[in-house]
Amino acid sequence: MIKNDLTSQYAGLKLKNPIVVASSGQTDSVAKIKKLAEAGAAAVVIKSLFEEQLEGLTQQLSQEQDHVEAYDYINQYVQSNEIEKHLEIIRTAKKENDIPIIASVNCFKSGKWVEYAKHLVDAGADALEVNIMRLETGLNADPSSVIKDHLAIAKEISNEVNVPVAVKLDRHFSTLVSLIDRLSYTGIKGVTLFNRSYRMDVDIQHERIVSGKILTSSEDLADTLRYTGLISAKVPKVCLSASTGIHTAEDALKALLVGASNVQLCSTLYQNGPSQIQAILQGIDSWMSDKQYRSISEFRGKLKAHEEDATLYSRMQFMKYFSNKE
Ligand SMILES: Cc1cc2nc3c(=O)[nH]c(=O)nc-3n(C[C@H](O)[C@H](O)[C@H](O)COP(=O)(O)O)c2cc1C
Repeated sequence: MIKNDLTSQYAGLKLKNPIVVASSGQTDSVAKIKKLAEAGAAAVVIKSLFEEQLEGLTQQLSQEQDHVEAYDYINQYVQSNEIEKHLEIIRTAKKENDIPIIASVNCFKSGKWVEYAKHLVDAGADALEVNIMRLETGLNADPSSVIKDHLAIAKEISNEVNVPVAVKLDRHFSTLVSLIDRLSYTGIKGVTLFNRSYRMDVDIQHERIVSGKILTSSEDLADTLRYTGLISAKVPKVCLSASTGIHTAEDALKALLVGASNVQLCSTLYQNGPSQIQAILQGIDSWMSDKQYRSISEFRGKLKAHEEDATLYSRMQFMKYFSNKE
């Protein structure tokens, strides 16, 4: 039984505890969402609607059609059918559960998909997480235009919908803190750190490119902690959701201590099932009792990068640590 006050936040939503289920195959059906809610999840982020998923499907069909009108018809049908299935998951999940249901869109540019966002909200989504996933591979790619596009997406979507918007980001930004500061003026309420992009690997036996490790472990937590600690100190106006590497109660507590408002679980649920949610909640609760904390707000952010601790997050640590190693 939980003894302490575990209430938390997600982009302006009040949550009964800090455990959110991350967007993934774990949240792609009403039945799975129901199980997660029953297992104690405070909110779920539904499996993303992908731009490519919609576009890929329509392109595939276009190859089978040489008549333009037929293509247009099928194109429209496929898009609306896909979206309709997705909307139905939100509607039913919302009806059958009393936790916030967060819709998710995985995108890389602003534009047409913003129209879909309104439908997600009309279907009952309590908030929207926008996963901006770009992989710049062009020789002439311009870093400032990548930043501009991120800001445009955040602004357009925040203007379009009347529910809280969170942006889920990739860790590969040389100026992440400044990007998030600029994002905080676009109307978004939260930032999820981080996305996990598709991993590639090389099979040396067959000499080909293969899929890398899909799931994470607690060892993947370090970047999440570093940037959560830095950003919670420097951009206090956005609410941070820690994603990547949260597997245990200890991982969740670390993220909360450096300033996360909540944590998102994905890999650990693939590995251990929904019962892991209770195990983590019990672990957080008993640590709090041992430390005599009664609510999460009493310790959340205690270890963020305060001015006096800032060097613990910086290049200085690298110098101190590695200059003394043999
Ligand atoms: C199989 C799988 C599917 C995923 N699908 C999505 C998705 O649709 N949208 C999204 O934003 N993130 C997706 N993710 C990323 C997760 O939401 C999460 O950010 C990532 O797995 C890191 O968290 P973890 O360490 O708890 O696994 C997916 C992850 C996995 C493993």
